[in-house]
Amino acid sequence: MPKYSRELIDEVIEANSIVDVVSGYVTLKKTGRNYTGLCPFHNEKTPSFSVSPDKNLFYCFGCQEGGSTIDFLMKIENIDFLEALEMLAARAGITLPKTGDFDEARDNQKKRFYQIHRDLANFYYVNLKRNEQAKNYVLSRGIDQNIRKDFGIGFAPNAWRAGIGFLTERGHTIDDMIACGVAIRNDRGDIYDRFRNRLMIPILNSGGKVIGFGGRKMNDEDNGPKYLNSPDTPIFNKGYELFNLNQAKKNISGDQLIVVEGYMDVIALCQNGVKNCVASLGTSFTLHHAKLIGRYAKEIVLCFDGDEAGNQATQKALTELKDSRVRIKVLRLDPKDDPDSFIRREGTNAFNQVLKNAMTSTSYLLKELEKPLDMRSEDGRIKYAEGAINILSRLDSDVSLSFYTKQIAGQTGISEQVILGAVQKNGEARDRAIGRIRLNYQAKTKKIKKAYAQAQCAVLRLAIEEKSAKALSQFSSSYFSKGFYRNVFEAIMDCANAETPIDAISVMSVLADEKDINTLQKLLVSQDEDLININFDEAADIINKNYLENEITRITSEIKLCDPEDTEQRQQLLKQLTVLKTVQSNKEEANGKR
Ligand code: CTP
Ligand code: MN
Repeated sequence: MPKYSRELIDEVIEANSIVDVVSGYVTLKKTGRNYTGLCPFHNEKTPSFSVSPDKNLFYCFGCQEGGSTIDFLMKIENIDFLEALEMLAARAGITLPKTGDFDEARDNQKKRFYQIHRDLANFYYVNLKRNEQAKNYVLSRGIDQNIRKDFGIGFAPNAWRAGIGFLTERGHTIDDMIACGVAIRNDRGDIYDRFRNRLMIPILNSGGKVIGFGGRKMNDEDNGPKYLNSPDTPIFNKGYELFNLNQAKKNISGDQLIVVEGYMDVIALCQNGVKNCVASLGTSFTLHHAKLIGRYAKEIVLCFDGDEAGNQATQKALTELKDSRVRIKVLRLDPKDDPDSFIRREGTNAFNQVLKNAMTSTSYLLKELEKPLDMRSEDGRIKYAEGAINILSRLDSDVSLSFYTKQIAGQTGISEQVILGAVQKNGEARDRAIGRIRLNYQAKTKKIKKAYAQAQCAVLRLAIEEKSAKALSQFSSSYFSKGFYRNVFEAIMDCANAETPIDAISVMSVLADEKDINTLQKLLVSQDEDLININFDEAADIINKNYLENEITRITSEIKLCDPEDTEQRQQLLKQLTVLKTVQSNKEEANGKR
């Protein structure tokens, strides 16, 4: 059941200027009727992102994201439809009517789940003081009293239903406990606490509400995984949450946020005064996470465990983040270390020192590229150069490009010019690819001029009325606009070629698209004066003229986009262009004389 009517949703969209909303995130420049800027959804140097205030839409020619103001907010704020709608309504001062039953139920359910988590976190917290073993474990991990309090670390008793019992007393239902992941019902119908005999680390969302737990076992011999985490629930989605973000966002330093792998890393860094750190929650680090961080910091430092697994995770994260707007740096530790062990042993100053020397993501990728190669061999150096050129092709800044080019030239003995040339070519290939997408898109959405549309209608209708394709034989498919007109033209030609009669039924039975059939039916019965009065020659003239114009535009763009080194293709296109232009000017002259 939709919560709000289409009319109300439209009203909220209309009440906000899409330009104003987008401007909150993207610097826009007016170009004609529209606005353009750098796309916030992918990484780019030249603006492909455009906003149409008339249509209240945005579209990126580069990554093809597009939609309404609501779509924009959902995407950039990582929120759902209703949240985006509410945001826009608030912005425009519109009061949305009281929520319907369904959503009120949903909201109430969320509220109860938050409360369950809050109560349970308190229960665990208080419990820790009563358990010697847990207290010793906390001590042995070097967690001091203040930081235990800051993080609300607690202990889940070694019992089957301690949590359930406590929550029941507080008025919560078993069904809710199960639905929000803190209790489990097994196949036989037994109900028990998810977390038992574990050190409990509450997970808070960025608004500071407890939404889940990570439970660490305290003895290697104990059953189950080292960490047991809450499952995803209506209030907890691991792909969108980061451990400690609620605190880290208030402690951004040097525009940086440090991303580590584990709970214990975050806790140890914070205890040692490095408070701008977060961890993903037993899942890999995603672009969603990066975007979330991008709201608070300009630079992410990936500081995963020093071992090979940490290295793999770093590479994976960099691939995932290659279109991220946030700058990425990489801090690698010795194989035996994670941030937790490093900062506890070496101290805060030492950590800040290595942090200062964190590599750029490019440096890191180049280093990883080099690792398995024998740089003394020619083969190794060539492989290195080839890989390096791909890495450099992603760079946005000329300064960095020049910097790394020098480095690679030094390492391989290949001249800087050759490397730069290859990088440039890669980049141009990509720009051309984007250009082609853009061209395609424009061709698809270009408004067909009214006269041209009518002319096409007229000639197609006449052919069917006269049951003859003869008059159409002067055209080919490309004279007709893509979609309906071209499809009907091709259907008529198919009938002619198959020597089936060219009547409405035969043509419709060849058309594949239901929509085209409907449109054709309407066209054939239309009493539109313009359509009835137009004669075939007039219509044919208009079609020819538009065809020439469109072709000239298309080929001109293709010349701009074609590989400058492919001289043959270029020559070919130029020749075509000359021919078309000659035909066009001859026609104009002939028309002038008439
Ligand atoms: N993790 C998990 N489930 C596991 C193991 C790990 O969810 N069975 C997640 C946890 O979020 C953990 C992170 O992966 O914090 C990193 O794992 P690991 O390095 O093994 O744990 P540490 O945080 O370093 O914890 P500890 O120092 O206690 O080993
Ligand atoms: Mn670790």
